[in-house]
Amino acid sequence: MTPGRDEVVRAWHLARTPRGHPAPGDFAWRCVPLEAPAPGEAWLEPHWLSVDPYMRTRMQPSGYDYLTRWRPGDALSAWGLARVVASRGPWREGDWVVGHMPVAERCRLGPGASPNLPPLTLPADTPAPERWLHARGMTGFTAWLAMRRYGLPRAGETVLVSAGAGAVGSLAIQWAHRAGARVIATAGDAVRRDWLVERLGVAAALDHHDSDIASRLAEAAPQGIDLNVENVGGDVFEAAIDALAPEGRVVLCGLVGQYHSPDPRRAPRNLSRVAALGGHLQPFVVPGHETAYWARFQEDMATWTEVVAPLDVVDGFADWPLAFCGLFGDGGIRGVGKRVVRLR
Ligand SMILES: NC(=O)c1ccc[n+]([C@@H]2O[C@H](COP(=O)([O-])OP(=O)(O)OC[C@H]3O[C@@H](n4cnc5c(N)ncnc54)[C@H](OP(=O)(O)O)[C@@H]3O)[C@@H](O)[C@H]2O)c1
Repeated sequence: MTPGRDEVVRAWHLARTPRGHPAPGDFAWRCVPLEAPAPGEAWLEPHWLSVDPYMRTRMQPSGYDYLTRWRPGDALSAWGLARVVASRGPWREGDWVVGHMPVAERCRLGPGASPNLPPLTLPADTPAPERWLHARGMTGFTAWLAMRRYGLPRAGETVLVSAGAGAVGSLAIQWAHRAGARVIATAGDAVRRDWLVERLGVAAALDHHDSDIASRLAEAAPQGIDLNVENVGGDVFEAAIDALAPEGRVVLCGLVGQYHSPDPRRAPRNLSRVAALGGHLQPFVVPGHETAYWARFQEDMATWTEVVAPLDVVDGFADWPLAFCGLFGDGGIRGVGKRVVRLR
């Protein structure tokens, strides 16, 4: 295909800043012009686009300054997997491109699209390129950093992973098991907890809605938690700190349960207990790690063939907002693993 003229495509935008839990009405699609590729550029057709909790923090009026903020009227972007459909650059038509791209039906790819992690190109015949949406993509990289760079679980330790049935959590659990640790996880519904026990083999799967999560944790880990991989925040995080063993470590990956709050980075009330235990708290965000660690992560993943990394697929460009809003425990149907939207 050699595009000679501009086109108009649909692209999702933020319509208004969500108040509390995001709703599909907070988003609107607009028809936007797509210029024909200039020399050195290509046109991409996204086949898959990711929805991720951090996107909610980009809609907050303050906090989380490591990413640019989305204000009403701004176009959205997401991690995605797209086909090159026309090229006047180094890409071949049919190749897959993985990276951050507009949440649009079609988009342009130019040189230097991302300062840290240039879009990756995979040959057209790459088997199961969807792996780059999850285990070999951003959520895989997050779990790798949490466990292989920071948490470093050891044989015989007890590890707690909150939001364990989700994308990052389910991979973090598997890294902990590979290291020989015993894992306790949390998840919001029974189907997801059953999956954690039956498919991933966790020792206990707790309900983060349980008003007495602290007691459940004490029963499941009578000797205490050696490593907490924290994804949720709020009461779950406080219960985890109360359950920490002496010199226990916390890898603070995310606070998804707090992202709707006007105070989304609120610290747990008992944080000082970490210091009193001689413990260690390691917060991290992915940006800034790409140059040093992306290649090592890919090497590790290339040899891990038995990884369990299901996609929780929502079909259709029109349902991107619905897929996103469903990430936040609103009682809607949520599968296990990485939630993605399939466009084609
Ligand atoms: N540090 C980084 O750079 C980085 C990068 C990527 C992700 N993260 C963080 O990692 C965490 C997991 O992200 P993910 O992409 O793997 O998403 P995910 O776990 O696949 O999806 C989010 C899950 O969070 C749980 N959740 C949502 N609202 C909740 C609430 N109010 N209370 C308790 N649980 C709630 C839900 O699990 P249930 O359905 O089981 O309730 C939901 O399925 C998030 O905190 C995210 O911000 C951090």
